[in-house]
Amino acid sequence: MEKITLTKLADMKRAGEKIACLTAYDASFAALLEDSGVEVVLVGDSLGNVIQGRGSTLPVNLDDMVYHTRCAAAGVRRALLVADLPFATFADPKTALASAARLMQAGANVVKLEGGAPVLESVAHLAAFGIPVCAHLGLLPQSVNKLGGYRVQGRDPDQARALIADARALQEAGADMLVLECVPAGLAAQVSADLGIPVIGIGAGVECDGQVLVLYDLLEITPGRRPKFCPEFGREAGVRAILERYVAAVKGREFPRPEHSYGD
Ligand code: KIV
Repeated sequence: MEKITLTKLADMKRAGEKIACLTAYDASFAALLEDSGVEVVLVGDSLGNVIQGRGSTLPVNLDDMVYHTRCAAAGVRRALLVADLPFATFADPKTALASAARLMQAGANVVKLEGGAPVLESVAHLAAFGIPVCAHLGLLPQSVNKLGGYRVQGRDPDQARALIADARALQEAGADMLVLECVPAGLAAQVSADLGIPVIGIGAGVECDGQVLVLYDLLEITPGRRPKFCPEFGREAGVRAILERYVAAVKGREFPRPEHSYGD
């Protein structure tokens, strides 16, 4: 069983092979995901919403992330395991390194952090210490209070230009991957074509190099959560069938469809 590496993901991007990613927070789901063909398992701080039942990701702390990363790592053999740095644990390079070290020691292969210009120094510092980084632009759930809600980002031309500049700067600083959340499909396509690193979209159209969803949204098991960009894969079919349908739809460019994406 060949371990998925960043090199493999970069090869997939170059070959135009789509990357399937989902969140998991425990060993059983992490194992099921990779059995279903998912290449990247993300221990997202979305666990604040779907595990802890909170209204946002802000209450999630580093101990929570370390615990769930350790749980998910126990179920993963092949997939690349990415873990989120939670709110305010990466504001300066030294803090970012100390926080990232805890996630790496819990079993993460890559750490993810939200933001553009303000996190460039942290990204460069982590890269210099050999810690792979997945950046995250567009809708930044940790900034929901500043953004005034969970809204599409990058529709305004100035915002779009800033996002493109941030994406380039993050790659330059050493980021190995980028998550783009809730941005118009055209802008996401532009960023994906522009960057050498894989771009994984959520609510960002079909032209990204891969797709990610919150697992519990895909399985429709969190009451009150039904994002526009999350398709129905037939709840009655069972968990394994839903996961396999998701992976097949991502690989076959059948997901996301225009109705799961945002226009300019
Ligand atoms: O926390 C999370 O699950 C995420 C995804 C929405 C990309 O960051």
